[in-house]
Amino acid sequence: MAPPTVPLSLLSLFLFSISLSAALSSAPAAVSDPELVVQEVHRSIINATKRRNLGYLSCGTGNPIDDCWRCDSNWEKNRQRLADCGIGFGKNAIGGRDGKIYVVTDAGDDDPVNPKPGTLRYAVIQDEPLWIIFARDMVIRLKEELIMNSFKTIDGRGASVHIAGGPCITIQYVTNIIIHGLNIHDCKPGGNTDVRDSPRHFGFRTISDGDGVSIFGGSHVWVDHCSLSNCNDGLIDAIHGSTAITISNNYMTHHDKVMLLGHSDSYTQDKNMQVTIAFNHFGEGLVQRMPRCRHGYFHVVNNDYTHWEMYAIGGSAAPTINSQGNRFVAPNDRFSKEVTKYEDAPESEWKNWHWRSEGDLMLNGAFFTSSGAGASSSYARASSLGARPSSLVGTITTNAGALNCRKGSRC
Ligand SMILES: *[C@@H]1O[C@H](CO)[C@@H](O)[C@H](O)[C@H]1NC(C)=O
Repeated sequence: MAPPTVPLSLLSLFLFSISLSAALSSAPAAVSDPELVVQEVHRSIINATKRRNLGYLSCGTGNPIDDCWRCDSNWEKNRQRLADCGIGFGKNAIGGRDGKIYVVTDAGDDDPVNPKPGTLRYAVIQDEPLWIIFARDMVIRLKEELIMNSFKTIDGRGASVHIAGGPCITIQYVTNIIIHGLNIHDCKPGGNTDVRDSPRHFGFRTISDGDGVSIFGGSHVWVDHCSLSNCNDGLIDAIHGSTAITISNNYMTHHDKVMLLGHSDSYTQDKNMQVTIAFNHFGEGLVQRMPRCRHGYFHVVNNDYTHWEMYAIGGSAAPTINSQGNRFVAPNDRFSKEVTKYEDAPESEWKNWHWRSEGDLMLNGAFFTSSGAGASSSYARASSLGARPSSLVGTITTNAGALNCRKGSRC
């Protein structure tokens, strides 16, 4: 007997809702053993370094994320393959990989409650997965925060896209977001008005902070190759139970409080927060919080810290900080040489937290104060893979920030 026929469109709608609900029910996003994710990141860096040294890829840089897609001169036809290039805790963020491409043609944001088709806001509020790209170079000055819906990628490759001069990006209680290749700067507070967050719903927003990217109760989020500077509050803040996040290949400059990961010592749900910070360049004009952590597990690997005024990495409420293969260049001020800052606890308490530095390169008098298991000499022996050499940091981070990709050639 022939199987009953089902109209194709209905079938695909049905299959789509299954995959969507499967993805949503895969929460909680935090993993039970973060060290396994750390080891996988190591293996991907070792693999990329080997491929480069063996000359398998003429364009191999040793950066495992970039080498996954930048060798493809047809990147523009294969944009959604980027979604499979992530590493670390945010690796499973698929963004709009399984959806349509949506082209933003209109830089305007006249009506945050009823956005016009063709605008960035219209694209990000949709319920279906979308891979959002830009028809041309544009400066988008948002009227209010851009409240994203789940399963979206904003992909700035091939155009120079600035989100600047108004409120910026908010990832609140949603999942599977990729932000790639944007220039995000001069972000200002917004709020005190209605803003749409899905086709069927808009709501009143209180005053926002003016972050570049604000992640609030979000999971499976990957921010890659963005240039961020000069915002009102944080450049990237993740709070309120956010987890499964990777922040990679970004270039951050001219800002005081760079990254806040966890907003309150008493918010213990942030024990699930797991964040990978890899291959970023923390550059000129930065002051502190690269990042400032609470409660969770933070893997800080192969970043280039060329400027800080107060400190680089800090935290309170007993976070675990695993710093590996970074390059720390201390400022000349002799009172600001310390990479780390332990906050809101006496030494008798913080000496039991787990902050460790492995294979970091310390320049101009920089020093890292370890604690807990990270301070014991047995730690180095116990970790089988060892840190990624900080000598790679220069090449790995050379192209941090938004790339200048042109169609028809390698990016
Ligand atoms: C590293 O390379 C090996 C051998 O090609 C492969 O099996 C493994 O999946 C790779 N691991 C990562 C994390 O890229």
